[in-house]
Amino acid sequence: MQKILVARPIFPDVIERLKQYFDVEWNQGDVLSTDELTRRLADKDGALTAGEPIGSAVFAAAPRLRVVSNMAVGYNNFDMDDFDAANVVCTDTADVLNESTADFGWALMMAAARRIAESEHWLRAGKWQKWAYDSFLGSDLYGSTLGVIGMGRIGQALARRAKGFNMQVIYHNRSRVAPEIEAELNAEYVSKQDLLRRADHVVLVLPYTQENHHTMGAAEFALMKPTATLTNIARGGIVDDAALVEALRSKQIAAAGLDVFEGEPHLNQDLLSVPNIVLTAHIASATEATRRAMANLAADNLIAGLGEGPRAGRPPNPINPGVIGKARS
Ligand code: GLV
Repeated sequence: MQKILVARPIFPDVIERLKQYFDVEWNQGDVLSTDELTRRLADKDGALTAGEPIGSAVFAAAPRLRVVSNMAVGYNNFDMDDFDAANVVCTDTADVLNESTADFGWALMMAAARRIAESEHWLRAGKWQKWAYDSFLGSDLYGSTLGVIGMGRIGQALARRAKGFNMQVIYHNRSRVAPEIEAELNAEYVSKQDLLRRADHVVLVLPYTQENHHTMGAAEFALMKPTATLTNIARGGIVDDAALVEALRSKQIAAAGLDVFEGEPHLNQDLLSVPNIVLTAHIASATEATRRAMANLAADNLIAGLGEGPRAGRPPNPINPGVIGKARS
């Protein structure tokens, strides 16, 4: 039997599925350090990860490793040049989380725009004495302009929901999406600068890459409306968190919702003392159904990638399909 490492706690029934095909080592404890992960992968053929950094140093120590299945849509934790050089197949769990993640983007955007978390903290602190006409005035979503940066599958799912709010949708992306998708979403392609100037609510749904590092920093906040909100459901590092703190403190923008952070789970502590921000712990895909779908898809990818099961050799979500079937190097 081939050997695999499941690097994180995961639904036990998915472990049982994997055990039908593999000798499974399951880490049910804390996140493994890179050294520990490398040590444990030394004799493994495959791995199921969720954000652990993997590249050439791991491959050098794990000569049998042929498939790494990440339980996430983002795979910026992997050095893809190293995967390609070593002929290691990488897979992700794209698509099954689109709708839950888009729902959550709306939840954060609405919470930020309508100051829901701020009001709740104030209420819980026992500060509510009377109704007041000017308590927690926020900004409307209905009839406003939604600016989506990153119009992939999740960005499109998010934009699709804007119809019910009668919102104008503008977007920026590496490249324009197909005209029929623009027509369906009633979305207008604009430059990043135009989007920042025009949008009432900016949502980030783009993958993290070196080029996207600090896509939103001081210069970008300076372009936004003082009534605008920013929501990040993409990745930490796309927003310059320190610059965001300044923009929120100085009321350069009205509010923000963040599900992802630079250096998470360790946060820039200044974020915690800014009132006009909603903070959640990287939970955009966290519904029971979606996390189950992600875990099962990650298992399917590993099973098929390692040549087992009904789809042997054809993992559903390969990132680098060109290396499938090539000998490890
Ligand atoms: C979560 O952040 C994911 O990439 O799926």
